[in-house]
Amino acid sequence: MLRRVVVIAVVALAVSAPVASAQQKVEKVPITATSPADAQEMFATYCAVCHGKDAKGNGPAAAALTKAPADLTRISTRNKGTFPDTRVRRFIEGLDEVAAHGTRDMPMWGSLFRSLSTQNPDIAQLRIAALANYLKTLQQ
Ligand code: HEC
Repeated sequence: MLRRVVVIAVVALAVSAPVASAQQKVEKVPITATSPADAQEMFATYCAVCHGKDAKGNGPAAAALTKAPADLTRISTRNKGTFPDTRVRRFIEGLDEVAAHGTRDMPMWGSLFRSLSTQNPDIAQLRIAALANYLKTLQQ
């Protein structure tokens, strides 16, 4: 049986009266497929809604979250100048969250990505590694 998996998206609200600025709301929508080899496309599709297109944490859904999305261009800076590959991959996957108190605002991408390629779980790992490598190139 297929589990229903969702990601966060910001959708424009259809409004009947003409308004000066577009109204938006944050919604959960089914995850869409992307190329596991294209980290930039994955980031734009899955991550930018919270972290922002520039990864600095100002995505359109940020205001709706309890916790501010991290500035992903400063992971190394926050870690004494070294990019913590393993920790980043584990965070994206959602591995370290089980023991943590409560829930987190960021989705557990491991199970979401596995839902995209149920025949081959290695592809989910490829996605996570590609995203971590992509984030590494964004460090300032
Ligand atoms: C629904 C909003 C949301 C989405 C979508 C999202 N994140 Fe996050 N992310 C957060 C929040 C909020 C935090 C702050 C930490 C927390 O939640 O505990 C965070 C933290 C992180 C961190 C930890 C940064 C650090 O300094 O340790 C990484 C890495 C990260 N996100 C990567 C990603 C990637 C890659 C994607 C897309 C596959 C993504 N995020 C999608 C909300 C989001």
